Amino acid sequence: MPCTVVVGAQWGDEGKGKIVDALSAEADVVARYQGGPNAGHSIVVDGGTVVLHLVPSGVMHPDPRCLIGNGVVVDLARLREEVGGLEARRLEVRSRLGLSPAAHLILPYHRAAEAAAERGPGAIGTTGRGIGFAYRDKAARTGVRVADLYDRELFVERVDRNLSRLRLEYPEAAELGTMSGAALLDALEETAAWARPLLTDVGAELHEALARGRRVLLEGAQGTLLDLDHGTYPFVTSSAASAAGAPLGVGLGPRAVDRVIGVTKAYATRVGHGPFPSEMDETLAARMREAGEEYGATTGRPRRCGWLDVPALGYAARINGLDQLIVTKLDVLDGFEEIRVVERYDGAGSEGGGFGADARSLERARPVWRSFTGWRSPTTAARRWSDLPPRARAYLEWIEGAVGVPIQRVSVGAGRGCEVTRG
Ligand code: IMP
Repeated sequence: MPCTVVVGAQWGDEGKGKIVDALSAEADVVARYQGGPNAGHSIVVDGGTVVLHLVPSGVMHPDPRCLIGNGVVVDLARLREEVGGLEARRLEVRSRLGLSPAAHLILPYHRAAEAAAERGPGAIGTTGRGIGFAYRDKAARTGVRVADLYDRELFVERVDRNLSRLRLEYPEAAELGTMSGAALLDALEETAAWARPLLTDVGAELHEALARGRRVLLEGAQGTLLDLDHGTYPFVTSSAASAAGAPLGVGLGPRAVDRVIGVTKAYATRVGHGPFPSEMDETLAARMREAGEEYGATTGRPRRCGWLDVPALGYAARINGLDQLIVTKLDVLDGFEEIRVVERYDGAGSEGGGFGADARSLERARPVWRSFTGWRSPTTAARRWSDLPPRARAYLEWIEGAVGVPIQRVSVGAGRGCEVTRG
């Protein structure tokens, strides 16, 4: 399949980094299509963990071209730091990395305004990276794109106008008073010169790669339930995290996509505020958090933990048009005596037993649970479906039946190769 989208089927943190790294062994190009440094894609290689925030997760393999599409919001200083960190590991990055000049920049005033907004009522529990405010400028047509770094007059004029507006909106954000377009551009000058050779027409490159039969992976960040349109609004991120955002965020048409893979944990987590109907009580959540090391890769925040929400997964299958599922972190459930899932919803707010993403309705929907007896044996060494304990297989087979999407791969450990691939 020449063009594959890898998308989070939950609230992010599904383990997309590990999966994109695994699939990248057979990819020629890997491109990020949305989000920004709010993402934290972890890859365990040679016993060490690398966390990628902006660089596509194909970078840990020596060959794939890595592209950052127009749909991404870029904090250039962070990108440079990340590339520096990878180069310190003796990875060749710059010659393989491409950046769309149409990607919007995250600037320090986006973070300052977000910090002020998050102190007020209606806080979302964001990652504090300025994501929402950068996308807000993009939608309001007041944003500054990577290309604009090289047009001093335009940059300074636009940034000064944005600053004037934000100072009125957030008078309590004192840092805004000390910023100016000229000073921000001066501070970025060296980084802008560093980034210039990376600029490329991402859409044209991908189009050509596909025309030549190359294999392309489009890497999603966050997850379907955090999608701006289809997630649990307003407790979402500000971009099109679902699969439809993939061609849009790299400059391809929808017909370019051949296959959509959804990644889900064998249970569920969420960071930030918002409804989470399958959330566990704190005693069990603490146990799950420790077993699964469920702390934010970007912010270090403890993640909220819950059981798998099957109607939500069915919803993600529909929104993304999933062809297959990859289940991660099955091994985290190895020690649990009982494993539960939300089988359907009952009562007001549920859509015929299914999942409706509207946050207020979801608060009212009552989960109906199904219980499975735990397999209570280690799965980490399993590599074939038949290596899995029968109860683990029964759990997975029930899920694929309920969601109506085949499970193609199951991850049973953080390291490369710790997975069961179905023949
Ligand atoms: P923002 O993307 O920083 O604006 O945060 C909006 C919401 O998305 C918050 O609930 C965040 O915790 C959540 N979020 C953003 N990025 C990620 C991610 O990579 N993984 C999980 N949650 C995320």
